[in-house]
Amino acid sequence: MGTNRRDFLKGTAWMGAVAAFSGCAATGEKLGGAGRMSYYADKPIQKLRVGVVGLGMRGPGAVHRLSSIPGVEVQALCDLYKARVDRMQEHLKSKGSPAARSYYVYESDSDGSSSDETAAYRAMCESDLDLVYIATPWATHTPIALYAMEHGKHVAIEVPSAMTLDDCFALVETSERTGRHCMQLENCCYGEVELLTLNLARQGILGELVHGEGAYIHDLRDLNYLDPAKGGYQGYWRLKWNRDHFGNPYPTHGLLPIMQAMNINRGDRFDYLTCVSSAQIGMDSYAKAKFGPDSWQARLHPKCGDMSTTVIRTLKGRTIMVQHDVTSARPYSRINLLSGTKGCLNDYPFRITFAEKEGDGAHGWFDQNKTAEICAKYMHPLWKAAGKLAQKMGGHGGMDFLMDLRLCYCLQNGLPLDMDVYDLAASCSICELSERSALNRGASQDVPDFTKGGWKSAKPLDIVTIDLEKLGLTDVEKDESQLNV
Ligand SMILES: NC(=O)c1ccc[n+]([C@@H]2O[C@H](COP(=O)([O-])OP(=O)(O)OC[C@H]3O[C@@H](n4cnc5c(N)ncnc54)[C@H](O)[C@@H]3O)[C@@H](O)[C@H]2O)c1
Repeated sequence: MGTNRRDFLKGTAWMGAVAAFSGCAATGEKLGGAGRMSYYADKPIQKLRVGVVGLGMRGPGAVHRLSSIPGVEVQALCDLYKARVDRMQEHLKSKGSPAARSYYVYESDSDGSSSDETAAYRAMCESDLDLVYIATPWATHTPIALYAMEHGKHVAIEVPSAMTLDDCFALVETSERTGRHCMQLENCCYGEVELLTLNLARQGILGELVHGEGAYIHDLRDLNYLDPAKGGYQGYWRLKWNRDHFGNPYPTHGLLPIMQAMNINRGDRFDYLTCVSSAQIGMDSYAKAKFGPDSWQARLHPKCGDMSTTVIRTLKGRTIMVQHDVTSARPYSRINLLSGTKGCLNDYPFRITFAEKEGDGAHGWFDQNKTAEICAKYMHPLWKAAGKLAQKMGGHGGMDFLMDLRLCYCLQNGLPLDMDVYDLAASCSICELSERSALNRGASQDVPDFTKGGWKSAKPLDIVTIDLEKLGLTDVEKDESQLNV
């Protein structure tokens, strides 16, 4: 069944929200062309002025990485709390970087009395910046990004960038109308294995792609219940989301790399999905054991099932399974499985196999030597160019730095970004659609076409790389002083 934005217009509240953001959707005026932001390039920005909002667990690493890249200046820092902003000012000072402008809501960490927590990020978005980099709690991502784009800024938003279909539509429409990039910071697209997988897929080594599996399996119970005053999530935002929602609230780490390999929104698109979630047992048992049966934690009873399994079918008949489990005692995994008519790759543990030619089977995994040979031969050019540097700079084994480096490089050189607003919307739509399906005995849900037909002509993501010399990083592995670390 064909789906577009209108099919998903349900009720006047939604229309009002979009009209407020787009200023024209409700009047039927034409928005930016269908799929306009696919392969969209803006003018080069040689000196990239960045504002970072959200300086909790994730944001400080971004400040460090961004301010290390030549030609990039972190000119604004924003958080609810002054102490978090001050800490990052100290960090910039220690690197010899210029001081940034400070934006915050509360002077003291114990304060929480403001009725308007938007004031600080609004002031930051109104100031002179090129890029607003957002690392705040999930529900605040879209409002901040919309405000920033309305004020002429490109935006890069942590995962998942949008939690509802309304948010997805609003980001697409605002990005198209303002001509501002709106990229989801999906660092896993820059992992060594994910990049290798993409390269193998592009070279046809796995044959015609048929099926993928991705996941976010990570026991986060300690962190979910950790007191914010002792370093936990600000205001227990993640625990609260788990308390109130079902389905998969965090689908993008495993999903976006598969989407890139399968050319979703660039030749194929999501058609429909179904999601089934288990009962929630892991959080209650953890809370009872750690805090006692009468504690508020043990009496919270979050709704989010422990294991949520979504299966998406594409218009071309491919399938993708996406799992979410942050509440069971099991080792970390994103699964990262991609299989085709000639071969298969699987992470956790890492294994590859493929047939030499179409029609032959591949019945066993390659041994260590052969696997190492394949990895060397098919290493993605981007990892070849900057992987060692990225590993040195760190952030989930280097993928965080590689993502930021490539983002800045594209903006500085006026290149299209690797991930556009349609990738963001399609991957984030899984949050609401999986919940709707799981609440309804796995009932099938259509996935909207956020490209409005643009997916038919959009070209697949190239095998991209980076010219470190253009950044003045001629021999950075030997001479680290070329980076402002
Ligand atoms: N890509 C990854 O690998 C990865 C890893 C960790 C976290 N994340 C994402 O990063 C984001 C932040 O996660 P975190 O672990 O840092 O959470 P956190 O709670 O530690 O930090 C969030 C910060 O945002 C600030 N904040 C909240 N509302 C604000 C507002 N209105 N204005 C300004 N600042 C505001 C808070 O004060 C806090 O310092 C989440 O979206 C999360 O999913 C991604």
